[in-house]
Amino acid sequence: MKDHPVRNSIYNVYFSPTKATQTIAYAVADAIAADRDLTSIAINLTKPNSRPVRAGGQAGDVFLFAFPVYGGRVPTVLMDCIDQFQGEGAKAVVVGVYGNRDYDDALLEAADLLNERGFEVVAAGAFIGEHSMAPRVGAGRPDADDLAVAAQFGHDVAALIEQGASTMPAIKGNRPYRDGMPDADVRPVTTDACTSCGICVKLCPMGIIDADDPAQVEAGCLQCNACVKGCPEGAKHFEGEQAAAIVAMLEGNCMARKEPELFL
Ligand SMILES: Cc1cc2nc3c(=O)[nH]c(=O)nc-3n(C[C@H](O)[C@H](O)[C@H](O)COP(=O)(O)O)c2cc1C
Ligand code: SF4
Ligand code: SF4
Repeated sequence: MKDHPVRNSIYNVYFSPTKATQTIAYAVADAIAADRDLTSIAINLTKPNSRPVRAGGQAGDVFLFAFPVYGGRVPTVLMDCIDQFQGEGAKAVVVGVYGNRDYDDALLEAADLLNERGFEVVAAGAFIGEHSMAPRVGAGRPDADDLAVAAQFGHDVAALIEQGASTMPAIKGNRPYRDGMPDADVRPVTTDACTSCGICVKLCPMGIIDADDPAQVEAGCLQCNACVKGCPEGAKHFEGEQAAAIVAMLEGNCMARKEPELFL
């Protein structure tokens, strides 16, 4: 009997509360899958019951890890997931999506973490998404130009893998990484406009919005703004001096358009 070669896979592994990361991840993964003739397997880590999950790959597979940059770092909520990743020689690509301020050490941190888990990191890319906390910053990103860059990045990664690349490129960032964000008990406020439709309950990546009374939010909020952006009534928002100061800082310093940066 003739042996059929096993078709390898591309694992598109992403966390994306407000979908900017997801959009970029698919653009990159689709291009790699097409050029390398790989089976696409999407692993969405956004829902609370999807984490942690065992994920990984073997030689011949490609593992794309895409995340939003939080405080210039990889979101700490993903660390338990990353601990479960198994590389076993799979090629890996790191994608960080940031809100037009800076990605600081996040790409380098993610690449180091995947290397430690047995992946061969061959490329990394920083892309821009609308800032979750300040929608005027990076407004409308990723746009058509970003998606074209993301697709071309995917094609370039596929070509690199075809050539047998196995070494990590020089990725912008510093070790030790900058300090992570301090823990703070922030929670969105809900106005009387709430109709208890439950949309925010389903969107929340932490599962902390009460299904029976969506105005009640437990501790553990990431300030990801999925509930704020997803509420059809505009009934959720963050208030207080700290939230206002962050928006003012971002709108004051981060309005000039930044472009994707690629390392391969
Ligand atoms: C807690 C938190 C921290 C953030 N930190 C940064 C940051 O350091 N630099 C930056 O440019 N954007 C930062 N952002 C913005 C997100 O990286 C950006 O909006 C991203 O596109 C969100 O991805 P998503 O749409 O996949 O959720 C932060 C957002 C949140 C919620
Ligand atoms: S999405 Fe808005 S209206 Fe619906 S339950 Fe949540 S806060 Fe209320
Ligand atoms: S409650 Fe916090 S973690 Fe949950 S969706 Fe809203 S901003 Fe995100």
